[in-house]
Amino acid sequence: MAGYISDDTRKVTTHRLVEMKQRGEKISMLTSYDYTMAQIVDGAGMDVILVGDSASNVMAGNVTTLPITLDQMIYHAKSVVRGVKRAMVVVDMPFGSYQGNEMEGLASAIRIMKESHADALKLEGGEEIIGTVKRILSAGIPIMGHLGLMPQSINKYGTDTEAEKLISDAHMLEEAGCFAIVLEKIPAALAERVASELTIPIIGIGAGGGVDGQVLVIQDMLGMNNGFRPRFLRRYADLHTVMTDAISRYVSDVKNLDFPNEKEQY
Ligand code: KIV
Repeated sequence: MAGYISDDTRKVTTHRLVEMKQRGEKISMLTSYDYTMAQIVDGAGMDVILVGDSASNVMAGNVTTLPITLDQMIYHAKSVVRGVKRAMVVVDMPFGSYQGNEMEGLASAIRIMKESHADALKLEGGEEIIGTVKRILSAGIPIMGHLGLMPQSINKYGTDTEAEKLISDAHMLEEAGCFAIVLEKIPAALAERVASELTIPIIGIGAGGGVDGQVLVIQDMLGMNNGFRPRFLRRYADLHTVMTDAISRYVSDVKNLDFPNEKEQY
């Protein structure tokens, strides 16, 4: 089987991610939203599994990430945690669960950690949420930042990023104590500069190869979303075709009385 399976079975920790950056080993990260997929992703040697609020799009069919609720994120997170032995499990705090005030953010963070048993949380934003980030960190909850294109702020920012603000936000998140930052859809040179200035790992999506790791949405990289083909996406399979073929053969076998046969019944 072509692929990379680590023989290191120790649980991935925030400390080990920093060590990976220091020795130049790239960090692999992929989303999962359910138990079965999480088991496969973990078994394939993933370092970090993100229970992303992209569940709103790929699991629930919403156009944006905004509608997903705290309860729904906790349901996905619990399902994923049950399937994972080695990878670090990071859960997105959903839109509306931390933007109000610091105490509301802390209460939402504690709920996710207590109910899901995940390892860490991810929050979108820099300076504007730094108070909440510090409050959650002070409760001992590890935080991964998220800058660049922030889907939860799509209505405010569109796709514009301002380089100086991004750099200053990244430093602010590191100084506050975040253990890593996701940079989404920003120019490769800018992402590389942030990765070289910061000591914590920078994980990119559409941010080029000069960062410390990569993250993708699993449905996208497995080719399950036929219509979604941004330039940064590499498709490692064409599961849309594979699954459509298998399912239509099943339909046909049922209609033609071919399934079940004698060996497939009691
Ligand atoms: O929700 C998500 O899947 C994400 C990734 C795009 C990084 O935040």
